[in-house]
Amino acid sequence: MSKIKLSMPDLIKARKRLEKNTPTYTYELSKEYDELGKGKTYYIFTYGCQGNEADSEVIAGILEDLKYTKAEDPYKANLVILNTCAIRENAENRIWGVLGNLKGAKQNNKDMLVAICGCMPQEENATNKLIESYPFVDLIFGTHNIYDLPHLLKEAYDKNAKVIEVISTEGAIYEGAPKKRESKHKAWINIMYGCDEFCTYCIVPYTRGKERSRAKENIIAEVKDLVAKGYKEVTLLGQNVNAYGKDLAGDYTFGDLLYDLDKTGIERIRYTTSHPKDLDLKTIYAMRDCKSVMPHLHLPVQSGDDYILKKMNRKYTHQEYLDKIKKLKEEIPNISITTDIIVGFPNETEEQFINTLKLVDEVKFEGAFTFIYSKREGTPAAKMIDEITEEEKHQRLDRLNVLVDKYYLEGNKRFEGQVVKVLVDGVSKNNKNNLCGYSENLKLVHFPSNDLSLIGKIVNVKITEGKTWFALGELVNE
Ligand code: 5AD
Ligand code: SF4
Repeated sequence: MSKIKLSMPDLIKARKRLEKNTPTYTYELSKEYDELGKGKTYYIFTYGCQGNEADSEVIAGILEDLKYTKAEDPYKANLVILNTCAIRENAENRIWGVLGNLKGAKQNNKDMLVAICGCMPQEENATNKLIESYPFVDLIFGTHNIYDLPHLLKEAYDKNAKVIEVISTEGAIYEGAPKKRESKHKAWINIMYGCDEFCTYCIVPYTRGKERSRAKENIIAEVKDLVAKGYKEVTLLGQNVNAYGKDLAGDYTFGDLLYDLDKTGIERIRYTTSHPKDLDLKTIYAMRDCKSVMPHLHLPVQSGDDYILKKMNRKYTHQEYLDKIKKLKEEIPNISITTDIIVGFPNETEEQFINTLKLVDEVKFEGAFTFIYSKREGTPAAKMIDEITEEEKHQRLDRLNVLVDKYYLEGNKRFEGQVVKVLVDGVSKNNKNNLCGYSENLKLVHFPSNDLSLIGKIVNVKITEGKTWFALGELVNE
């Protein structure tokens, strides 16, 4: 098969931020592509963060605009898209595995077009491997090329060639693209894109481009529209939402946005992810003052050791992190705090690791995503000497998880006997007689009920038992 390389990824270019101003474009579907998907089905596999989930909703929206319909069985679809994640090696390994399955499916379904997008194609090594070892992949496109999808698909169909378009750029903003939202009561809202932090272990600033904020008017209008459609909850998304507005003219900040969105009538506002260095007082006050801003904060700490934090380029210390937590707990006494932690950063000593355990004991996080450091080619940490054995890293992760689980359980137990408000998502996976949803503090709650009309509603549930990963309760009429 011939190849059309429209553009290839370049990590060095991706690091440069030359453009000061971010262009904003309005998405428009050209008539030329109107019927491209007529009679065809699609299926999207989504991996990684909520940013990817939000992107997949845009991709699905664009495909349905082109008249594709969703396939029930991915292996029978005419178009299969893998929206990939590059954050750690194991995330990538999963994708290589799925690609192996798709190879077989494509042999039985010659019409199938296989496309790969998301963060993996932004890495030179991954794209080269895709081209060389996975010749059945028809289309490779990057995080900045989603809005070009109609054109890219047409190229792949018309020229019967492998099409590759991955640009490594600062990035732009597109407004007005169609979205096919997965939920009828909860919505993701990108308030900004990209990341300028360059934490030394992280590939995201390279794969997602420059930090760029959407205009507040567009965000507020989107939330108002969701309220009118009956949505109950929005989650504001960005790699570092606390930096919202820094790239725009004026001094409007993330805290201001929370106060403004509270006035839209949306019942619940969540946001992720935060950077401790940029979490400011106005945001804390907005969490305290705005009824709709939920009392849960995900505040990734990564490490509890000052030397490691410096090597990670995190720009705060153990004590500065604790000071922010103290202020949060003073202003919002009921708050639940969760975090991300990396163990085994290059040459982390036992003593440095113990400082992380200490911090977990001090903060008593009610949940944490814990990871073993994964080397990402092209990042500064990839060049650091790392002599810690794999066994040691796994042992540290296990020791950390024991502690994290203890506080996870305490975080659920503290609600025993209390009535909490749960936004009902659906039927519990493991028990058809239970419904489940999340409380204001982002606790997963299961309770007996067969009343499907409660899905999408906020109900009162009395917590009867806190478990490690969830809580059990019963419906109360209040
Ligand atoms: N190795 C391990 N964990 C990582 N994260 C980001 N990059 C890496 C890496 N190279 C983790 C951080 C971040 C979360 C989304 O993923 O904890 O907060
Ligand atoms: Fe990665 Fe750090 Fe940006 Fe988060 S803030 S996406 S960890 S570089």
